[in-house]
Amino acid sequence: MKNLKERIIKDGYVIGNDILKVDSFINHQIDTQLLDELGEYFSKKFDGVNKILTIESSGIAFGVGVARHYGNIPMVFAKKSKSKIVDENNLYTTVVDSFTKGTSNTVCVDKRFLKPGDKCLIVDDFLAEGNASIGLIDLCKQAGAEVVGVAIVIEKGFQNGRKRLEKLGIHVESAAIVDHFENGKVILK
Ligand code: G4P
Repeated sequence: MKNLKERIIKDGYVIGNDILKVDSFINHQIDTQLLDELGEYFSKKFDGVNKILTIESSGIAFGVGVARHYGNIPMVFAKKSKSKIVDENNLYTTVVDSFTKGTSNTVCVDKRFLKPGDKCLIVDDFLAEGNASIGLIDLCKQAGAEVVGVAIVIEKGFQNGRKRLEKLGIHVESAAIVDHFENGKVILK
């Protein structure tokens, strides 16, 4: 998506060897016009979607942005911590390892919000190793819901996320793909 790519080049910056910071328009402060354009972009890529599924926290805004372009379908986000007031028997849970942060989180969705017959589009801000998306796919599988595809704002093309998802037969679309970083500069595909 042209506007996103231009914005990454203008305002994105690289930390260390493999982290792209986009906190002025995606991860901390959000450009809501760009968010809306991303919603429109992804809604044209996937048909037959009746639910958006994402993971807290950064996925939430983009999940809402995409949902609005499907005529206001629900957006569900997997939670990283279990609320004390929910009954664990009513949850689908899975473990998501974070390659970037070196952490592991149990994430969950209430069974009321993911049902057999749902046609889910998974949305996230970044695709790196694909662990978050694979966890969300597992939650859909447990619920008997179908995964229509995975929609990603920024894919790090030099990591294994796309390969792992496509191996599972998942249709992946990214609005921008980072090919590599060169002397602190972002080189997009
Ligand atoms: P994966 O899900 O594709 O395997 O990604 P990974 O474990 O590597 O990423 C862990 C977290 O770091 C995710 O956020 C992911 O969105 C984010 N991330 C990965 N690479 C980058 C990067 O280059 N830049 C930025 N800004 N973020 C990156 P999370 O743990 O779900 O945290 P949250 O911010 O959504 O709460």
